[in-house]
Amino acid sequence: MLSFLSLGFLAIPAAHATSHYARDAPSNSTAGNATVDMVSAAWYAGWHAQDFALNNVSWDKYTHLTYSFATTVPSVNNVSLSGSDAELLPQFVSMAHQNGVKAMVSTGGWGGSQYFSSDVATQDNRTAFVKTITDFAQTYNLDGIDIDWEYPGNQGIGCNLVSSNDSSNFLAFLQALRADPVGSKLIITASTPITPWKGADGNSLTNVSSFAQALDWINVMNYDVWGSWDKTVGPNAPLNDTCAAPADQQGSAVSAVAAWTAAGMPSHQIVLGVASYGHSFHVDSTDALDCDGEALASYPTFDANEQPLGDAWDSETNTDSCGVTSGPSGVFDFWGLIDGGFLYPNGSVSEGIAYSYDECSQTPYVYNQCTSVMVSFDNAESFAAKGDYIKNNNLRGFAMWEAGGDYDDILLDSIRQAAGLEDGDDGDC
Ligand SMILES: *[C@@H]1O[C@H](CO)[C@@H](O)[C@H](O)[C@H]1NC(C)=O
Ligand SMILES: *[C@@H]1O[C@H](CO)[C@@H](O)[C@H](O)[C@H]1NC(C)=O
Ligand SMILES: *[C@@H]1O[C@H](CO)[C@@H](O)[C@H](O)[C@H]1NC(C)=O
Ligand SMILES: *[C@@H]1O[C@H](CO)[C@@H](O)[C@H](O)[C@H]1NC(C)=O
Ligand SMILES: *[C@@H]1O[C@H](CO)[C@@H](O)[C@H](O)[C@H]1NC(C)=O
Ligand SMILES: *[C@@H]1O[C@H](CO)[C@@H](O)[C@H](O)[C@H]1NC(C)=O
Ligand SMILES: *[C@@H]1O[C@H](CO)[C@@H](O)[C@H](O)[C@H]1NC(C)=O
Ligand SMILES: *[C@@H]1O[C@H](CO)[C@@H](O)[C@H](O)[C@H]1NC(C)=O
Ligand SMILES: *[C@@H]1O[C@H](CO)[C@@H](O)[C@H](O)[C@H]1NC(C)=O
Repeated sequence: MLSFLSLGFLAIPAAHATSHYARDAPSNSTAGNATVDMVSAAWYAGWHAQDFALNNVSWDKYTHLTYSFATTVPSVNNVSLSGSDAELLPQFVSMAHQNGVKAMVSTGGWGGSQYFSSDVATQDNRTAFVKTITDFAQTYNLDGIDIDWEYPGNQGIGCNLVSSNDSSNFLAFLQALRADPVGSKLIITASTPITPWKGADGNSLTNVSSFAQALDWINVMNYDVWGSWDKTVGPNAPLNDTCAAPADQQGSAVSAVAAWTAAGMPSHQIVLGVASYGHSFHVDSTDALDCDGEALASYPTFDANEQPLGDAWDSETNTDSCGVTSGPSGVFDFWGLIDGGFLYPNGSVSEGIAYSYDECSQTPYVYNQCTSVMVSFDNAESFAAKGDYIKNNNLRGFAMWEAGGDYDDILLDSIRQAAGLEDGDDGDC
């Protein structure tokens, strides 16, 4: 996921693979029964704890909660919680455990991946980084670690170290982590782009089966697919894009699952990353509205120089971890759309706000003609569509960025119900 902190919005050896996988997925539960070992997860952003406290988390609706972020630092011997309220993490872990929820920490993030490349560059560094991660997990009594390297073999944020060998070094690191007595018992996940990581030739890896053996699952970050960096408005988190015009096929849950499974990631090791937020755009009403003046136009152009301010978690200026300052992110959390008058507290569209639901991406848009602000986001309907997709395609579950973005569990309840998690044995896998 993108770290809103920074951009402003934004294995085991192969021989043991089967037994390792069995630890998290009882062999009698994977095929055909979606409820038993499914993942109902979210990331908890430590820097939003003042507004969304540990008490605000609906612990009973989650199997896993992932505290974010432990960032990489110049030394391979450490990671840092300096942006994420280090004092809160022990409370997070004990509260998770009291509720039968697995407590994880995500390392990296958009703004925290600067040194992954050097952390895994050599065997010595990989050995040291395995110790860093396992010591960290033991210090905080964690059940697992999510590696959110954005992105191996790809620049990500401007000041990241990057090498053409990143993906193969990453795999070697994960295998070393799994070979470690502590690491072998951790839940190890990776948060990934919608296409497999880049290999040494700059193309997406075509065979990730060794990663699949090393990891419990991947969280495919199917959001920020469109945003303020694009030429037109588009869906933040499209479920589908094969039905869109060719120029608008920038990726989706459907394309991501196709790409990862084609490269050898079993569908039941794919958790769909879903967004409790949307991106805003300044769109003139002549571009926003169809000629009848009512329906919203698809993929309209927007004025990038007039990026709207998002909700109360956004700011007029944001300085990222590379020291680059930019304007507002324009991110509206789901609660922020209610706060901002786009939606009513029950999640339905406010009077005077134009609305459309794109049937291809299966995501909604709202538009305020008075302020020229259009937001591409997710609501109960789009979360239900994603939940159906998870169930129908035997995915492992969902992970929401971020827990605190929802309002009254409108999104969480919707995806859980559609994915068949409502009567599951959460927190018990
Ligand atoms: C599934 O497997 C678990 C552990 O292996 C076992 O305790 C349980 O009885 C099994 N359930 C069924 C329905 O076979
Ligand atoms: C999954 O398991 C639950 C609990 O054992 C059972 O009630 C349900 O019918 C099963 N679903 C399928 C699709 O097999
Ligand atoms: C969090 O919980 C507190 C105390 O119950 C409540 O006052 C507050 O409104 C909640 N905040 C959110 C964002 O749910
Ligand atoms: C890692 O950083 C923490 C916080 O700054 C510090 O207390 C700890 O001593 C460091 N550990 C190592 C191994 O450098
Ligand atoms: C190994 O890690 C150290 C930091 O602890 C770093 O200075 C060094 O450059 C890394 N090695 C490589 C080859 O990246
Ligand atoms: C990548 O790894 C190969 C084999 O270990 C090595 O020869 C090459 O120098 C490395 N390339 C970079 C950019 O580090
Ligand atoms: C993928 O890689 C694994 C591990 O190296 C290998 O066993 C398998 O044959 C490869 N699959 C394909 C389709 O090349
Ligand atoms: C995606 O769109 C294609 C048409 O291009 C359709 O066949 C497929 O069912 C859609 N998938 C989902 C999950 O909506
Ligand atoms: C949602 O709230 C609005 C405003 O209070 C109300 O008009 C509408 O009927 C509500 N919709 C549902 C489905 O309850």
